[in-house]
Amino acid sequence: MAQQKILLGVTGGIAAYKTPELVRRLRDRGAAVQVVMTRSAARFVTETVLQAVSGHPVRTNLWDEQAEAAMGHIELARWADHVLIAPATAEFMARLAAGSAPDLLTTLCLATRAPLSIAPAMNHVMWDHAAVQANRECLQSRGVRILGPAEGDQACGETGLGRMVEPDAIAAALLADATLAGATVGSQPLQGRTVMVTAGPTREAIDPVRFVSNRSSGKMGYALAQAAAEAGARVVLVSGPVQRPVPQGLERIMIESAEELFAATHAHIDDVDIFIAAAAVSDYRPRRVESQKIKKTRAEMTLDFVKSPDILASVAKLASGPFTVGFAAETHKVREHALTKLAAKQLDMIIANEVGAGIGFEQDENAAHVYWRDGDQAFPLAHKSTLARALIELIAQRYNVGFGEDTAVELTALASRD
Ligand code: PMT
Repeated sequence: MAQQKILLGVTGGIAAYKTPELVRRLRDRGAAVQVVMTRSAARFVTETVLQAVSGHPVRTNLWDEQAEAAMGHIELARWADHVLIAPATAEFMARLAAGSAPDLLTTLCLATRAPLSIAPAMNHVMWDHAAVQANRECLQSRGVRILGPAEGDQACGETGLGRMVEPDAIAAALLADATLAGATVGSQPLQGRTVMVTAGPTREAIDPVRFVSNRSSGKMGYALAQAAAEAGARVVLVSGPVQRPVPQGLERIMIESAEELFAATHAHIDDVDIFIAAAAVSDYRPRRVESQKIKKTRAEMTLDFVKSPDILASVAKLASGPFTVGFAAETHKVREHALTKLAAKQLDMIIANEVGAGIGFEQDENAAHVYWRDGDQAFPLAHKSTLARALIELIAQRYNVGFGEDTAVELTALASRD
């Protein structure tokens, strides 16, 4: 695999003193690193040290005439395979969330298509502040990966959640499967594959102003789409009506009803290698959609429902269809219902999650148990973006066993025998 190019942005927190160590840990894992510092970062660590450890000049200023003669900030934004901000201060997170770009580092963050990770570091009371948490959530919903913070003693003498994650752990998280000293780095197990993810709810119209729907926020599906993109896949996200920004670099198709979801899925399924159905599809829809708003003249009213198409089952039935992963959202007998769906819909895998008051739907965190024909794996409660990465890793492993490299080798072997 090609050498990973990491653009490290250093902002003005005390943890900036750990960034020379971070650069070394990233380079130990084979990555090339270029550093951009904010003005306040220079109060905690010097340009000279970071230049020496990275082996590249350090940039601090958007108005560097020599570099900007060749549009240096755009060049840097294009150069990076990954942008990492460590430490990320509360103030920097706020600027990033607002999309404001008064300096070189914020400008680079807007100008790059590379995935962005931040390692926040600040006093634990600041980290808990509603404004900081709102910015964290906003960044996370746009696909920014948040590494930490860690718990422990802080420079201010207090203890709590706010320390920057240690340099080695950041390097390991960023360059997951890297071996030491220049070997392969940043494994992307879905490189060259196309993944389709369905996400969010559907809405089934009753009349021009009313519909039947459910509580899905799209958080789980969007996190899976983002994680699949980080794993190197081209991702098509088919989304029900949710107010979420499009994660960077993804193709998104918006739908409303189960029938529209069915049509959009089948219109784009031909090139898909892995299909993940995280959408909460209305199983039934009103038999008749009134063309005018229903008036409240009757004391009671009854709606007649018919079954919606089952998108997941229809994809699993395709003759040479993709590797198919379904969800089972259950309030009780989770395992039993999940295994029934796995068999009835003929899926390759099913991700079972318990749903109900305060769990599953709408929450930031989720737990899951994944089943396939001859195995299963439990995933404890975690943020949906963390869970999604772990799920994608497992899906990629199972896909490569069943459909990917091994199958390709077997098929090649069979072909060469003929
Ligand atoms: O969106 P969030 O707020 O983050 O919540 C996440 C979630 C709880 C919605 C998600 O984790 C989840 O469980 N999604 C699937 C919800 C669901 O509809 O489950 P189900 O057990 O009813 O359906 C089984 C599977 O068949 C699902 O993969 C579903 O997408 C698919 N299906 C169902 C009916 C239908 N007509 N077509 C389908 O494709």
